[in-house]
Amino acid sequence: MKRIGIIGSGAIGTAIARLAVAADLDVAIANSRGPESLTDLIGELGSRAQAVEVGEAATFGDIAVLSIPLGAYSKLPNGLLDGVTTLSTGNYYPYREGRIPQLDALQLATAEYELELLPGARLVKAFNNIVAHHIPLLAHSHPRTALPVAGDDAEAKRRVASLVELLGFDVVDAGTLAESWRFEPDSGAYTAIYAASGSGFESDFLADRGAPLPASRLRELLAASHRPDVAARRF
Ligand SMILES: NC(=O)c1ccc[n+]([C@@H]2O[C@H](COP(=O)([O-])OP(=O)(O)OC[C@H]3O[C@@H](n4cnc5c(N)ncnc54)[C@H](OP(=O)(O)O)[C@@H]3O)[C@@H](O)[C@H]2O)c1
Repeated sequence: MKRIGIIGSGAIGTAIARLAVAADLDVAIANSRGPESLTDLIGELGSRAQAVEVGEAATFGDIAVLSIPLGAYSKLPNGLLDGVTTLSTGNYYPYREGRIPQLDALQLATAEYELELLPGARLVKAFNNIVAHHIPLLAHSHPRTALPVAGDDAEAKRRVASLVELLGFDVVDAGTLAESWRFEPDSGAYTAIYAASGSGFESDFLADRGAPLPASRLRELLAASHRPDVAARRF
């Protein structure tokens, strides 16, 4: 793997971009405002990074990382990610997206809903269950920290797993998109599992420095996870 595209230059997109250039990958990153808005970020990321339009980021590399609000998925150009191995970091936050009846009714996991919006994408779920500031703190940790990866397309999942490992994390296969509720918000394998202190994370999550979570423990947490009551979600 030599190149990745990233759509979304927010907290998660930039955290992944920083790890990618540190791993000697070439990165093309896009946002909604256009390449000129990314001058400072490209200056920070260095010569392996370039700012591009969304269409170029989609097809730049072996994988497109999609890290935008769930409500923006339907605003992407039609067919943008057709056939593209797509690492989606999205989560459903009703305060931001508005209420989505299929998700509130538990008819679909968020990742399945995303695939309905992007039917041609080879969609794989990863990096959605860890807060952005924990990503650099836990990449290449000792012991290694594991992230769950879920998808229906075995080849796409294998590629995304390779990327996650290259960026400095172990991978736990968390099954299909339908099973990815196991690491959605409010489930038993969401962001607090990477906290150094559960109570500290709850009171001031940004102050928490994170703690390594080995693959064996993540497997246990995924197995014991409970399906969240999405309709009750207030954030
Ligand atoms: N923040 C976290 O700790 C965290 C943790 C796990 C998962 N997530 C999930 O990961 C996703 C990204 O989160 P984030 O915190 O990185 O978001 P963010 O900081 O709000 O950044 C969102 C990015 O998406 C871009 N964007 C929005 N609409 C777009 C469009 N139509 N085309 C291209 N780019 C578009 C924005 O572009 P502009 O910069 O031009 O506005 C921005 O760069 C969300 O679904 C979030 O729920 C976040």
